[in-house]
Amino acid sequence: MKSKLIDNYGRIAKKLRVSVTDRCNMRCGYCMPKNNTKWFDSTEVLSFEEIIRLSSIFANLGVEKIRITGGEPLVRPLIENLIKSIAKIPHIKSIGLTTNGLLFSDKVKKLKSSGLNSVNISLDSFKEDRFKMMTGTNGLGKVISSIQKARDVGFDVKINTVVVRGWNDDEVVEFANFARHTGITVRFIEFMPLDGTGIWRSDLVFSKKEMIEKLESGIGEVSPVLEQEISAPAKLYSFSDGIGTVGFIPSVTEPFCNQCDRIRLTSDGRFLTCLFENPGYDIKSYLRRGASDEELSQCLIHCMAMKQEGIVSLIRINGLKPKLNLMHTIGG
Ligand code: 5AD
Ligand code: SF4
Repeated sequence: MKSKLIDNYGRIAKKLRVSVTDRCNMRCGYCMPKNNTKWFDSTEVLSFEEIIRLSSIFANLGVEKIRITGGEPLVRPLIENLIKSIAKIPHIKSIGLTTNGLLFSDKVKKLKSSGLNSVNISLDSFKEDRFKMMTGTNGLGKVISSIQKARDVGFDVKINTVVVRGWNDDEVVEFANFARHTGITVRFIEFMPLDGTGIWRSDLVFSKKEMIEKLESGIGEVSPVLEQEISAPAKLYSFSDGIGTVGFIPSVTEPFCNQCDRIRLTSDGRFLTCLFENPGYDIKSYLRRGASDEELSQCLIHCMAMKQEGIVSLIRINGLKPKLNLMHTIGG
């Protein structure tokens, strides 16, 4: 299918991330405000019907992959029904879910039969007390068991690990060893200034370069995996003995905006052509005023054409820490 979502830099949108809720059952220190969170009202949040309609329109415009995110997507009741409907949309080749893993193991069978293909589970520490400190919950055991179950039922599973200096950078080697023992790819993410907690500072960013240094001194030499998808945000590396794959998402120190093929739909119905775009385009209001599929398509094509260069130009214009989105409202 020929894509129609193309920007002025020639980038084509193939992947759509749909945030289905801004709520979450964790309070990660780098993401969710502990209190004072003003959640979207239920009337502001897109219904499943609205998400399905917009997803079909996106698919007709060339989107091939859809990822369901949040907040925590599994706190939205009957999410498997939404996934089932999205799986039936023509031209959609795969559906993924990004979850914190707390509710996942209870839903694993329903999710498997819904047509879901891949699951990214967030895990930032193997230490009970640190897990509690970082997420505000006691769910380490639950998350580990979700990872096992996801694998047992045959999902394509990846781990997302946000590395924050002084919090968990001393566990990078342990995470890589986990990847080596299990065969599951662990993707290390640099701490981005998208936190609702307002704690981001550049010195808390533990860079890809520093992570590689830790891995090389703790385990051994790493080198880039030869065949990898160029537009994937995670740059994959393997160890010289061929055991285990780790990825790095160096959004801060090596932004990869020139290869971006992603767009986003927020739970309150805004279209974001970039993670760092704020407030984005209010496609929900247009839809609720009765716009036709054709009108919505034209609107999305038009917004996409105006996609900015990315975080690089934002930093150039505003200096780092421009007015950014909060991660829990956009789902990463
Ligand atoms: N910086 C980097 N990654 C973040 N995530 C949430 N907030 C941030 C942030 N400020 C991660 C979550 C999840 C993914 C969707 O984004 O841990 O794995
Ligand atoms: Fe894409 Fe924007 Fe992220 Fe760059 S900053 S990779 S353009 S979403």
